[in-house]
Amino acid sequence: MQTKIWRDILDYARWAPSPHNTQHWKFKLVDETHAVLLYEPSRLLPVEDGKGQFMASGFGLILEMISIAAAPHGLELKVDLFDVPLDDSKVGPQPFANLSLIPRVIPEPLDRELILQRRTSRLPYEDSPVSPAVLTELAEVATSFGHQLEFSSDPKEVAWVLGLNANTMFLDLRDKTTRDEIGHWVRYSIAHAKKTGDGLAAFAMLFPGWMMTLFFKHNWLFQIPGVHQLCKWVYTKSMRGTKTVAWISGKFEEQRDCINSGRMLARLWLTMTKHGVYLHPFGSVITNARSHKEMKDHFANPERKEPLWLLVRLGHSNEPPRAMRIALEDLIIH
Ligand SMILES: Cc1cc2nc3c(=O)[nH]c(=O)nc-3n(C[C@H](O)[C@H](O)[C@H](O)COP(=O)(O)O)c2cc1C
Repeated sequence: MQTKIWRDILDYARWAPSPHNTQHWKFKLVDETHAVLLYEPSRLLPVEDGKGQFMASGFGLILEMISIAAAPHGLELKVDLFDVPLDDSKVGPQPFANLSLIPRVIPEPLDRELILQRRTSRLPYEDSPVSPAVLTELAEVATSFGHQLEFSSDPKEVAWVLGLNANTMFLDLRDKTTRDEIGHWVRYSIAHAKKTGDGLAAFAMLFPGWMMTLFFKHNWLFQIPGVHQLCKWVYTKSMRGTKTVAWISGKFEEQRDCINSGRMLARLWLTMTKHGVYLHPFGSVITNARSHKEMKDHFANPERKEPLWLLVRLGHSNEPPRAMRIALEDLIIH
């Protein structure tokens, strides 16, 4: 069976981002232009993402990247969803959608090399706000998917967002079930990250491995007065130079809406990469109910019709470390 085109395309798309770098996808190649997309139940996040909304948006991200990566072949992606809920109690890869590569109708404006250049930057940013022209282009990308991107470069708003994200991280880590779920994805050393090819590697999170070990395995230490505050201060300081924050609203309830959100985020992120702008999503502010409510109250806008589903910081930074990925052959089911 000829699967050269699929392998070429998936070798790009496998660099799609996913929450905690779970890469919850697998592919069964049927023939040169058909494949089945499957989800891996053990790679879902049932504690933080009980309704599977972020995992579905992850599928949107990789589906859009498959379509972009198919462009040089004169192809685009057609997706037929099975409309199955993402169920973490199942065992082994479960069919999620049929994929077909079909002749491309509209030329693809985004170069697929951007998929390889894109990454999350948790580094300090370079003290300059994102230019209004780029922000306008990004807002247009969101609008084209029926979403709304709002942003601010007001120092007070930026400080409020960074504070909320830091509080959320420490709230999540205090809760044992959430801490255990995140801890399952933490890779404490480079060797550990290389071996699994997934997860939140300490080097990509910019934390020393020993500190990550203390956080997840000896969390009681952080209850000691002063230690918690000191860590929060260090974490917030790692985001110095941030001058622009943004928040996205759009339909984010049904699975199809979440997939559409992910497709939008893929194009938004690659458009930023095209302009040399990095992104740091604060997804945990959404998955933590208390922080999500605080954010909704803070950014209340009577004209906004749809829910807020993502908060981010964006800006210019040095090139961040590249998170690992699962090898292509290990994503393909034979
Ligand atoms: C929907 C979504 C939410 C995310 N939320 C967070 C977050 O709260 N904090 C964080 O540091 N990274 C977050 N990330 C970034 C992922 O951890 C990152 O994409 C993944 O580890 C792969 O790294 P890369 O983007 O550099 O390739 C999120 C990514 C996605 C797609």
